[in-house]
Amino acid sequence: MRSKLVVGNWKMNGSRPANTELLAALLAARPLTGPGGDVAVCVPFVYLGETAAQLAASDIRWGAQDVSQHAEGAYTGEVSAAMLQECGCRYAIVGHSERRAYHGESDELVAAKAQAALGRGITPIVCVGETLEQRDAGQTEAVVKRQLSAVIHTLAHCAAEMVVAYEPVWAIGTGRTATPEQAQAVHAVLRAQLQAATGHAARMRIVYGGSVKADNAKALFAMPDIDGGLIGGASLKAADFIAICRAAG
Ligand code: PGA
Repeated sequence: MRSKLVVGNWKMNGSRPANTELLAALLAARPLTGPGGDVAVCVPFVYLGETAAQLAASDIRWGAQDVSQHAEGAYTGEVSAAMLQECGCRYAIVGHSERRAYHGESDELVAAKAQAALGRGITPIVCVGETLEQRDAGQTEAVVKRQLSAVIHTLAHCAAEMVVAYEPVWAIGTGRTATPEQAQAVHAVLRAQLQAATGHAARMRIVYGGSVKADNAKALFAMPDIDGGLIGGASLKAADFIAICRAAG
């Protein structure tokens, strides 16, 4: 009913030669997933044009790591959804915990960004996740539900078009992955919330992110409500990312 989605989040990494080499290795390794599976890379804005050119003739999609909530105008440094659409973006990550933490993005702002992306036919990958303190305080469910409900409220009848990424903050870049059972438990909560709001949760993708590696991907992706991954560090090495994509196959 749902096929897998594996998305590389390059964050602020890469260079022209390194990107060309990495993308060439991904192209050479196709097919990366089984039938119906999707693979994408979310690259820094400045590399979108070159990424699009290199991937255009392939089934690998590309996207951005953020998008402005504004349509256009005097917003220095911002990039609009229309611009991303022009660059052929299929996806835009919104509400990554690094943006929430370092750029003060609120649930409402994240929701507005998701809406801006969808308005241009770009699928927002909406990140939610708790900090270690929140998990230890037993607040995981409450936190992720609050984060998701702001987006559901804003997107209204379009909410079923988003992808949700569960990314526990304590697992991002730390080498400390949520166990498949821990992740599954939260994914089930999120799917129930999406079902109550949209009635279409059975076809919506909820991916997991946070220290996904070649050796733990298969067990995570085998869980019933984990529909793929949002991959940071391991998406920068072709062999690792290819192995993770294959684990989704
Ligand atoms: P990580 O990052 O795979 O390096 O933990 C995931 C993410 O932040 O999207």
